[in-house]
Amino acid sequence: PRPFVYDGDRLVCSGVDVAALADEFGTPLYVYSADAVRERVAMIANGFAGVDHTICYAVKANSALGLLKRLGALGCGFDIVSGGELERVRRAAPEAVSRVVFSGVGKQAWEMDAALEAGILQFNVESEAELELLAERAQALGKTARVALRVNPDVFAETHPYISTGMSEHKFGIAIARARQVYARAAQLEGIEPTGVSVHIGSQIRSVEPFAAALQRVRELVEELRKDGINLRNVDAGGGFGIEYGTAAFDPAASVQQYAKALRSVLEGFDAHLLLEPGRFIIAQAGALVTRVLYTKQNGAKRFVIADAAMNDLIRPALYKAHHEIVPVLLDASRPASKADIVGPVCESGDFFAQDRETAELRSGDLVALLDAGAYGMSLASHYNTRVHPAEVLIEDGKTVLIRRRETLDDLFVAELY
Ligand code: LLP
Repeated sequence: PRPFVYDGDRLVCSGVDVAALADEFGTPLYVYSADAVRERVAMIANGFAGVDHTICYAVKANSALGLLKRLGALGCGFDIVSGGELERVRRAAPEAVSRVVFSGVGKQAWEMDAALEAGILQFNVESEAELELLAERAQALGKTARVALRVNPDVFAETHPYISTGMSEHKFGIAIARARQVYARAAQLEGIEPTGVSVHIGSQIRSVEPFAAALQRVRELVEELRKDGINLRNVDAGGGFGIEYGTAAFDPAASVQQYAKALRSVLEGFDAHLLLEPGRFIIAQAGALVTRVLYTKQNGAKRFVIADAAMNDLIRPALYKAHHEIVPVLLDASRPASKADIVGPVCESGDFFAQDRETAELRSGDLVALLDAGAYGMSLASHYNTRVHPAEVLIEDGKTVLIRRRETLDDLFVAELY
């Protein structure tokens, strides 16, 4: 199911030759398949067919305007976490602003104002202090803020500690035990209309049970609140459904069916509008980072392959020791197997894509693709070491669309004064 496969000895993305893309647009280069994105959205929609639901794509996973535009056209809504992400949706998919939910623990007044003016679907409020400020802003603007409280269900989900969020020691959400009290306050506040409950327990979670456990707690809360006379319609199950980064078999359609089945069984006989906030599941495997080998060298016992991409282009290995498959763009059966650290040019020992990785021997000039890099790749890129952001291309119906040109050094300096 992966969009990156070999046609003979050449890697292609949805039918387009990756080496030719690298020659045309240079490296490092992010390459995405729009077809793969469309497929993933359809898989989720299929899983939840018959359930009243909206897919609110998590913009932070990959916030390219060219991607948001296409997701909006597919009927998706968006999960945003900043005024900047709101502006992306307004520009790329203005028709989808009414399907936006706004998450995040540190929303500022200007961001609330922009979202109130834009008329987003719902604010996922993460603290009582935030609720009070939101009420103030809504009153000042003569608007009503539709609100869900993001509750912290205290559910453990196995994932990297940096991306686990649903336990009481995390900064996210409001303890579920306090939620009724806060809803009572919300119901009294002028400018606030309680419309839902939201939960998000973390990211890259591979088993479905924690999602079901969290949603079960949310359902119970909504039922209690309905008895209190607070009628909430939206149940936001968050994002976090994981993918396979290694070589193990992974059937995304079947696995999302399992996820859907687990959530559906919790929601049985329960009248609500389900919101989903997938990011990674939609875009991770649709994208690869293509990079060219600059040099190889031997330092003591270690062999290093130095690529022209670095941690500032894809930080996941450095930050989470995340695994990404690294494959040659052109297969060469005559190459012996070889073990090496595949690293970037940045001045940090953490600047690696893989350590002691066995691949067909990589040589200077070779192109390689870091797979499954569509999510939290470009969106986490930095300018560290004064390196420009890569270009991004989208393969759509067999055509190549440049959705972001490579930056120039002049682009980097525009905000600086001296
Ligand atoms: N909703 C909320 C409130 C979130 O905080 C997130 C992700 C999502 C939805 C989407 O989660 P997804 O479906 O993509 O797992 N940089 C890390 C991942 C950080 C996730 C942050 N929140 C990584 O590269 O693995």
